[in-house]
Amino acid sequence: MKAVITYYSHKGHTANYAREIAMHLWSRGVSVSLCSLSDFDKKKAAEADILVLGCWTSGFFVVGQHPHRRWREFARSIAGEYSAKRFILFTTYKIRTGSMFRRMQQELGLPPSERVARLKSRTGKLSAQDREYLDNYIHNQHTP
Ligand SMILES: Cc1cc2nc3c(=O)[nH]c(=O)nc-3n(C[C@H](O)[C@H](O)[C@H](O)COP(=O)(O)O)c2cc1C
Repeated sequence: MKAVITYYSHKGHTANYAREIAMHLWSRGVSVSLCSLSDFDKKKAAEADILVLGCWTSGFFVVGQHPHRRWREFARSIAGEYSAKRFILFTTYKIRTGSMFRRMQQELGLPPSERVARLKSRTGKLSAQDREYLDNYIHNQHTP
C-alpha cells in the first residue's frame, strides 16, 4: 500500500502530527511519502491508496472553525479528483474543531453525507487511540 501525507502547519504541531501518522503507517508496512502543501505531487497522489491531508484549526476558537486559506486553495485545486474512501483528514486544535472537518470536506468537493476518516489532536502527538484507528483503516482498505 502507498500513502501520501500532506499538511499545512504554522507552529509545527500539525507537521509533527503528520510525521507521527507517517511513521505509524510506515511501521505497518505502508510505503509513505510525507510533504507540505507546496510539494504535493498530483501524479504521486493518483498512485496512492491513502491520501492523508491535514491543516491546523483556524477560527474564533469556539465558533467558525475552518482550514487556513492556503489549505482551502490547495483543496479546491484537487477537488473531485480522488474518491472519498482514500482520504484521511486530520487537524490539530486548542479548544474545539467545530465545523473544521465539514469545511475540509466541502473544500475537497465531498458531500457532508460522506463519512470521511478523520483524526484530531490537541498536542500533535499520535495517541494509542489514533494508532488503533489507523490500523482499522488499513485493515478496511484491504477488505473490499
Ligand atoms: C489565528 C488562530 C486561530 C485559531 N482558531 C482556533 C479555533 O477556532 N479552535 C481551536 O480549537 N484552535 C484554534 N487555534 C489553535 C490552533 O489550531 C492550534 O494551536 C494548532 O495546533 C496550531 O497548529 P500548528 O502548530 O501546526 O500551526 C487557532 C490558532 C490561531 C493562531
